[in-house]
Amino acid sequence: MDLKQRINKDKLPGHIALIMDGNGRWAKQRGEQRIFGHQHGVESIRDTVRTAGEIGVPYLTFFAFSTENWCRPVEEVETLMDLLVKAIQTETPELNENGVRIRAIGDLDSLPEKCRIQLEDAIALTSKNTRLTVNVALSYSARWEIVNATRKIAQKVANNELSPDEIDDTHFQQALETAGIPDPDLLIRTSGELRISNFMLWQLAYTELYFTPVLWPDFRGKHLIQAIIEYQRRERRFGKLKCQPPATINEVK
Ligand code: IPE
Ligand code: IPE
Ligand code: MG
Repeated sequence: MDLKQRINKDKLPGHIALIMDGNGRWAKQRGEQRIFGHQHGVESIRDTVRTAGEIGVPYLTFFAFSTENWCRPVEEVETLMDLLVKAIQTETPELNENGVRIRAIGDLDSLPEKCRIQLEDAIALTSKNTRLTVNVALSYSARWEIVNATRKIAQKVANNELSPDEIDDTHFQQALETAGIPDPDLLIRTSGELRISNFMLWQLAYTELYFTPVLWPDFRGKHLIQAIIEYQRRERRFGKLKCQPPATINEVK
């Protein structure tokens, strides 16, 4: 049976986040420079987006470059940024035709100007699309995001627009980079590493985690489908008991 037909359309994850890892090791295995792996990783993104679109997953987030990745050798960082500009340039028209909305999270001001402008143009061009949102985390780290959100909220308090007692989950969510995007239901990390590496620490609170040894440049739509099938076998309880009817707020109190 076609792998895709094993997916239960009624239990699709609304948002899948991906930590794309293993490009350097993939290149090394082939006796090539690390950038060779990053170049091949673009095809993996393309195939993942295409497959998610076909299945009907509404949100994807790709962790493309972390705050900590700035500390890599300058040549790797520069080539990665060039690759990014090129990928946005070549991929955006097709993404737009297919109803994909591009978004980005992270410290975009820290990106090289050329890169930032390309990204902003792609975001503006695709902003009205509704089929699938592709969110790219660039110069992103969850601690940076949380500190930034705290600053925004503190500023509101300082301006007397908000009292400390009023600060709740919703205020915090709205101050995060991901405001308006649902929390991921499923996180996929490639390359066999079993860690989160400063990614979406707030948003992953109840996300199902899926780790695969596949290196990112080898990742394809079939791997995404395998992850979704595994996700659909899990029982999500959110701290409650199995089969517990939904409680009203009054009952909880
Ligand atoms: C992921 O692959 C891409 C980025 C972090 C930009 P890596 O470059 O981390 O590859 P490995 O983990 O060294 O193999
Ligand atoms: C995580 O991968 C960041 C991205 C995929 C962009 P890293 O390769 O930077 O993470 P560590 O260093 O293995 O934790
Ligand atoms: Mg890595």
